[in-house]
Amino acid sequence: LQQEALAKVKEATTLDELQSIRVSYLGKKGPITEVLRGMGKLSPEERPVIGELANKVRETIANQLDEKKQQLEKLALDKKLEAETIDVTLPGRPVAVGGPHLLTHIVEEIEDLFIGMGFEVREGPEVETDYYNFEALNLPKDHPARDMQDSFYVTEELLLRTHTSPVQARTMGEYKGNKSVKMICPGKVYRRDTDDATHSHQFTQVEGLYVDKDVRMSDLKGVLNQFAKQFFGEEREIRLRPSFFPFTEPSVEMDISCKVCHGEGCSVCKGTGWIEILGGGMVHPRVLEMAGYDPKEYSGFAFGMGPERIAMLKYGVDDIRHFYTNDLRFLKQYHKA
Ligand code: PHE
Repeated sequence: LQQEALAKVKEATTLDELQSIRVSYLGKKGPITEVLRGMGKLSPEERPVIGELANKVRETIANQLDEKKQQLEKLALDKKLEAETIDVTLPGRPVAVGGPHLLTHIVEEIEDLFIGMGFEVREGPEVETDYYNFEALNLPKDHPARDMQDSFYVTEELLLRTHTSPVQARTMGEYKGNKSVKMICPGKVYRRDTDDATHSHQFTQVEGLYVDKDVRMSDLKGVLNQFAKQFFGEEREIRLRPSFFPFTEPSVEMDISCKVCHGEGCSVCKGTGWIEILGGGMVHPRVLEMAGYDPKEYSGFAFGMGPERIAMLKYGVDDIRHFYTNDLRFLKQYHKA
């Protein structure tokens, strides 16, 4: 019996098998229990002999069972540990890291260049009053030029600013007409345009304003030329074309020579070799006056440029919507390490 049981223990490969061997040999209905139960029927001489034998067999089987159980348990543990092994020499999984948006880079680059020329950086509200967005810029109510910029009105007197030019009026108002102003103002602006490859209902502008005694058109040209060469490269040229804005007189639009591509197939400069990147001019005397400056004593220039256009020109981006649809395949190209 003992040999049979031990052989089975030896062969057992799972803890379940061991348990059933334990039950069948050592359990309440097993053969050894039966022997011990039948002790009463034995003679007093037989009892100690048989008892000792039965206990010994039980002990031997029990010991073997315990030993095998420990073996199997250890085996199971080893197997589990092996399966869960961590190879510390494997390279780690990369953590996805974001980065500043291309437009953020562009605006910061523009800021740096103008800070280098002595301009301070200011901000203004995106929800603007009709007064600052239009009236203080020589665009009275019912002025037809208001149609140049279709607006999102919040109430009759409040709207999403259509340009950053209201910050001109706000800044001059703060300086109370007795100080020179040299500032730029980057920010978001809104127009009721239908979105397409070159239009967006929300886009970015950087306003510039320089007011002092004896500021001239040549100062505007010099500053913009300096900006264009530093930003796009020494070989770039600028050209000023006459234009119209109610808040500047005279008004200009500035083109920059297009080096992205040439000829008729060029979508960026449409084969002309030039692309417009900003509007500007000499601050209108009425605008100076409304802000508390004496136009006989002070003069100034102002401009407003579009960083999206500038980014499209610099990096050959062919659709303004790429800036806002947050396609990481586009955005990641411009993440700096
Ligand atoms: N505010 C004008 C626009 O959005 C640009 C501009 C700014 C023109 C400053 C002249 C002076 O089109």
